[in-house]
Amino acid sequence: MHAWRVHEYGNYRELLTWEECDEPSPPEAGVVVEVEAAGLNFPDLLFIAGKYQVKAPLPFVPGMEASGRVIAAGKKSRFGAGDRVIATNLWGAFGERMALPDQTCFRMPDQMTGVHAAALTIVYQTGYFALDYRARLQKGEVLLVHGGSGGVGTAAIQIGKALGATVIATAGNDEKLDICRRCGADHLINYRDDDFVREVKKLTSGRGADVIFDPIGGDVFDSSLKCIAFGGRVLVIGFASGRIPEVRTNRILLKNISVIGLNWGNHQFHEPARIHATHDRLCEMYCNGEIEPIIYREYQRNQLPEALAAIEKRASYGKVILRMRSE
Ligand SMILES: NC(=O)c1ccc[n+]([C@@H]2O[C@H](COP(=O)([O-])OP(=O)(O)OC[C@H]3O[C@@H](n4cnc5c(N)ncnc54)[C@H](OP(=O)(O)O)[C@@H]3O)[C@@H](O)[C@H]2O)c1
Repeated sequence: MHAWRVHEYGNYRELLTWEECDEPSPPEAGVVVEVEAAGLNFPDLLFIAGKYQVKAPLPFVPGMEASGRVIAAGKKSRFGAGDRVIATNLWGAFGERMALPDQTCFRMPDQMTGVHAAALTIVYQTGYFALDYRARLQKGEVLLVHGGSGGVGTAAIQIGKALGATVIATAGNDEKLDICRRCGADHLINYRDDDFVREVKKLTSGRGADVIFDPIGGDVFDSSLKCIAFGGRVLVIGFASGRIPEVRTNRILLKNISVIGLNWGNHQFHEPARIHATHDRLCEMYCNGEIEPIIYREYQRNQLPEALAAIEKRASYGKVILRMRSE
């Protein structure tokens, strides 16, 4: 089979090659999936650069999520050949076929498209875990979503609305704000033109946001502590800005706030059952029309470097998809 592969860590433009690789075989309790579409994620860039918390063993095929059909199943697998599935793994999705254990493989509802299926897992699981399980977002609360047009941002807005919150979203230009509006955000802030702290206070009559979803970190995190409500929760989701902020604990004490971390991937090792329950809930929400992935663009499989560049240059919004085959 063929796959995009890197043999050393560094710049994806120079290192990614489409090359022949060994055919994968299924683990005893696992499957081989013929990949239809793969979803790109910000961490793909970090994996290839060797800058992610976990390092992929070289050489490796990047790509963390895909949709497709099972073509081979191990003796103890709960799947069989022909099943339509969603596959997640730290790597392996940017190839014609990928092997993975049952634990990180999910059934795809009949009415779900392969492209939506490739976009549903990482960002929506992250949004749902963060808002429901970690922050216990309540109906009627005010949720502030930073980076609202990005992958996790679009998912957080849609899930926040489905959970009954009033959603304020920030983004860096009008096109991206329009994406936040399409996702259901009630209020939009262009953080380049306006001071988001002042705007959030204005929108909440000085109270601040009950829950802040922060995939950006750096100055955005620092300023967020100035517009959080008494008893509010700040969700630490990521550091797209490149700076990991530090917090003085007296500020946590004075405002009675909580700073809550979420590492969704780690739940695979600690609470896999919760991931499967969340998958069922997300499929239900998709089938009810409460959530629907926003697709920036579907690239053909030979266009992976171009697709990664769209994320790197901050040109993309929602999810970027690599079509591995047309089905
Ligand atoms: N905790 C978890 O389990 C988990 C799971 C998935 C992802 N993440 C993390 O969440 C973050 C966002 O992921 P994503 O998939 O949503 O990425 P994405 O689709 O590329 O979106 C990132 C957004 O961040 C904004 N941004 C602000 N400053 C930025 C900067 N200096 N560089 C790049 N973007 C910047 C951009 O919007 P504007 O242009 O509007 O500012 C962009 O839309 C990443 O750090 C990722 O590692 C964490």
